[in-house]
Parts: sequence; structure tokens; C-alpha cells
Amino acid sequence: MGAQKIVGLLVGRENTFPMPFIDMVNQRGAAVGVSAELAVLGGSLELEEPRHAVLVDRISHEIPYYRAHLKSAALLGTAVINDPFWWEADEKFFECTLARKLGVAVPKTVVLPNKDYIPDIDHSTSLRNLQYPIDWERLVSYTGLPAVLKPNTGGGWKDVYIVDSVDALLAAYNQTGLKTMILQEFIAWDDYVRCICIGREHVMPIRYNPRAPFEQRYQISNPVEGRLREHAINDARTLADALGYDMDTVEFAVKDDVLYAIDFLNPAPDFDSFSIKEDNFHWVLEKMTDLVLSYARGEATPPWRGEHRWWNHLQKHPSVKPVEA
Ligand SMILES: Nc1ncnc2c1ncn2[C@@H]1O[C@H](COP(=O)(O)OP(=O)(O)O)[C@@H](O)[C@H]1O
Ligand SMILES: [Mg+2]
Repeated sequence: MGAQKIVGLLVGRENTFPMPFIDMVNQRGAAVGVSAELAVLGGSLELEEPRHAVLVDRISHEIPYYRAHLKSAALLGTAVINDPFWWEADEKFFECTLARKLGVAVPKTVVLPNKDYIPDIDHSTSLRNLQYPIDWERLVSYTGLPAVLKPNTGGGWKDVYIVDSVDALLAAYNQTGLKTMILQEFIAWDDYVRCICIGREHVMPIRYNPRAPFEQRYQISNPVEGRLREHAINDARTLADALGYDMDTVEFAVKDDVLYAIDFLNPAPDFDSFSIKEDNFHWVLEKMTDLVLSYARGEATPPWRGEHRWWNHLQKHPSVKPVEA
């Protein structure tokens, strides 16, 4: 039998997912040489033998040092969930283009030049490639009104504006500072579904009410059924697989039987039991445990492995072995 494999978890403020997940991996992993822990990082050496066979990353978007560690650990063989390189590069506008190419409905979307720049940018020389002024009428005639102005990256409903005129759009845009924003057709939805996606394959659609207070948004008393369920599962799976996210939430606004993908850039999705509710929480624990056990045991490999040039380069060329920590 090989050495013990360790699954590490990186978390932020969340409290309901971490310990039950670690407990379940420890219980189910005991018989197969896998254990789990909260990872503890305190300054990483560049060629240190990774402690973790798998790292589940729920917070590197807010703790940049974790991301630096994760990139190096990925190079040295740790299966990181999700790919720290891709997560850092991913943006909502790119995802809208991808969805269109995949035949998944998305609201009509445009990406906008920034409102402001860092002081070193000189408006007469640094911005020569920018058309000025912006033809707002043309952009708005594409998206229609009302429209949604929201950040190209980020989350938590921050800086999301709904505007119903060009004047209101400009007033909102003028507050966006250094942020890159997208302008999007507003979908006047009659139904709303969120899908928790794990392992690029398993999809749990849950009815969702974005207008309800935070803890009451997932509406488990009104399950997603029939054709809507099938359609949501298919489109969510397509997006999660194309993006290569092993954990993600894909959100759809439904109007006239069309499922519009609204937000599918959620690589550290809400797993809190009080939010997604007990049955879904157990489903998440089971699927996440299956996933990390299969990565830890080498029965599956993360989707990004073999897709980064440096990884393939290292497989072909003699390389220096990591040192024991
Ligand atoms: N195009 C849109 N049409 C209708 N509602 C939208 C649209 N875009 C965003 N929203 C609403 O705003 C919320 C936040 O937008 P979202 O893109 O999810 O941003 P965040 O990444 O901050 O969560 C969504 O959950 C949805 O309720
Ligand atoms: Mg969102």
C-alpha cells in the first residue's frame, strides 16, 4: 500500500461545509489511505514536496497568497479544485461568448471600456485605441432597456445596477471607477433555477428566488421537474464541462421556456447548509467526497492536467525532484 494521501481544504468564513466535509472524507477515506484536514500554509518554498494530494480551494479569490501556493502545488502534482490558473483568468464576458458558441442561451451582452484608469495612464496618449465618446445609443439598442450593468469579474451582487434609460446607465457607469463592466439585456424572468455542479458531471437544479432574503432563496418546497429540470441539467453540465470547473454554480433566469444563463462564474459556490438546505447539502458532501477520493487515489485526474503547456513540457523533459519539507 502507498503512502497516506492527504486532502487539504482552504476556506473563508463559511462554517457549515468544512468540518462535515473533512469528517466524511476521513470516514470514507480511512479504508483506502486517504485523510483530510484544513490546510495550514505559512510561506511556501518553490520546490517543496507537496503535502496535499488534493487541495479544495474555496477562498483563493480573496487570499492571493493561497493562489500563489496553489499554482506551484498544481505544478508539483497536487490536484487542485478548481484550476487556479483558469479561475484567475475567467471573466463573465468571455463566458457569455463561450455560452453562445455552445448554443446555450445568454442575455445579449457587451463589455465596456473602463470609466477610470490608474494615474499613470495619460488620456491623450495611452488610450489611442479607444473610440471616444462611447456610442451608448448603439450599445443600448443591442441590449435593450432595462439593462443590467455589472462587473466582468467578481461576485456577491456587488456593483450590479439595473438601468432603464441611457441617463441612468451613464449615472451608474460613472460610479464604476477602475472596474471593467458588462452591459446585459435584462431578463424579465418568470422562473429562476440554480444548479450546483460537481465534478463537471453531477448537477443538482434547485428553484431559486433572487428577490427573497439571502437564506430563503433556495426554494426546496418547489422542486425543478420535467423538461425544465432536464434542460437545466444539460445546459449546466455543458457549461461546467466546457469551463472545466469541478465545483460551480450555474444560474438560469427562465422566460418563455428559454433558460438564460445569468451567472456561471461561481467557482467557490455556496455550500452552506442553511442556504442550500439539508438534502442538497448532503448531496454536495457525497459528491465532493467522491471527487476528492478519486483524485487522491489517482482514479481520476483534474481536467486541467495536460492542458497547461508547462505541465506537458515537464513530462517530456528530465526535471528536478522536489525536496522534503
Ligand atoms: N441579465 C440579467 N437579467 C435579469 N437579472 C439579472 C441579470 N443579471 C443579473 N441579474 C440579477 O442580479 C443578480 C446578481 O448578478 P450576478 O451576475 O449573479 O452577479 P454576482 O456575480 O455578483 O453574483 C442575479 O442573481 C440576478 O438575480
Ligand atoms: Mg451571482
